[in-house]
Amino acid sequence: MDIQLITQYWDNPEAREAFKAFIQDIHGLDFSEWEARGYWDDAYAPFSYFKDGRVISSVCIYLLDAIVAGRQTKLAQISGVGTHKNWRRKGLSRKLTELGLQWAEGRHQGVFLFADEEAIPFYHKCGFLSIKDGLEFTHADPVPKKQDIVSLDPSDQKDLDKIYTYAKNKTPISDKFSVSSAKLLMFHALYTMRSNLYEIPALESLVFFARKGDIVNVYDIVSECIPPFEEIYPYLSSKRDSRINFYFHTDKLGIRGVQTEINTGNNTFVKKSFPVSTPVFPFTSMA
Ligand SMILES: CC(C)(COP(=O)(O)OP(=O)(O)OC[C@H]1O[C@@H](n2cnc3c(N)ncnc32)[C@H](O)[C@@H]1OP(=O)(O)O)[C@@H](O)C(=O)NCCC(=O)NCCS
Repeated sequence: MDIQLITQYWDNPEAREAFKAFIQDIHGLDFSEWEARGYWDDAYAPFSYFKDGRVISSVCIYLLDAIVAGRQTKLAQISGVGTHKNWRRKGLSRKLTELGLQWAEGRHQGVFLFADEEAIPFYHKCGFLSIKDGLEFTHADPVPKKQDIVSLDPSDQKDLDKIYTYAKNKTPISDKFSVSSAKLLMFHALYTMRSNLYEIPALESLVFFARKGDIVNVYDIVSECIPPFEEIYPYLSSKRDSRINFYFHTDKLGIRGVQTEINTGNNTFVKKSFPVSTPVFPFTSMA
């Protein structure tokens, strides 16, 4: 087929540009800002087939620090998967996934991924298991509002530096199950959470949250010392709140009466023997 396998090539500027063009093409995602701001992550390892200098199929393995049942470990997330239209159904993605996982063997305790709808049959074919991913929630009781919460703007280098300092010093959000990577967090700061970033200076904490109607969605709390949620909530609260969703395990937040429900739509897959059976995958663990 006259195609070339290239792996671990971030130090090759041309190959890296080809990868970025490929991701833009397949997923409509432009990594330029993540790269330009200095958060490109070597822990995000590429396995790609090239043809005439262009990437035609690619898989990345992201090795991430994690906590599972109180113990520090590593997990591997499969991400950036795709094959150009003309090259599909020739076994390329399957082969790259196998090569990536062979390389990662012995470096992690479990493999997970979030599938696009159209790729679900592919992951089943490749032996991944669909897993029920959860979210936690609680009812919102009215509390007096505290005002000193500051919206952060990642376009402002000072705010971005502040977020990165928090990200590097953060303590894991959960002892049950959490995944953390400062550079992946910066990806979320720049892309998915860009207008949902707040600092509560009095608590030395960042909160990523958004309100939808009467529901508050909390995506992450980034702090060296996670405050109890009853100290955080007055800064977020509004009189009409009825419910608060958490996109991570809340065991460190000291919330009474927290409940769990299935979070549909993530299409989460794992490889056999994933170390957590009913996880709430942190929103900011998604690559
Ligand atoms: C999903 C995708 C990555 C598959 O890539 P590919 O190189 O065509 O996959 P492979 O040829 O290695 O397929 C491996 C197996 O999965 C099957 N498969 C692949 N795509 C499939 C699909 N859309 N529906 C059903 N089965 C599929 C193949 O037939 C093959 O099965 P076989 O071993 O029985 O022959 C590719 O279609 C793609 O890039 N889609 C758009 C982007 C995307 O969804 N990426 C994934 C993001 S999570």
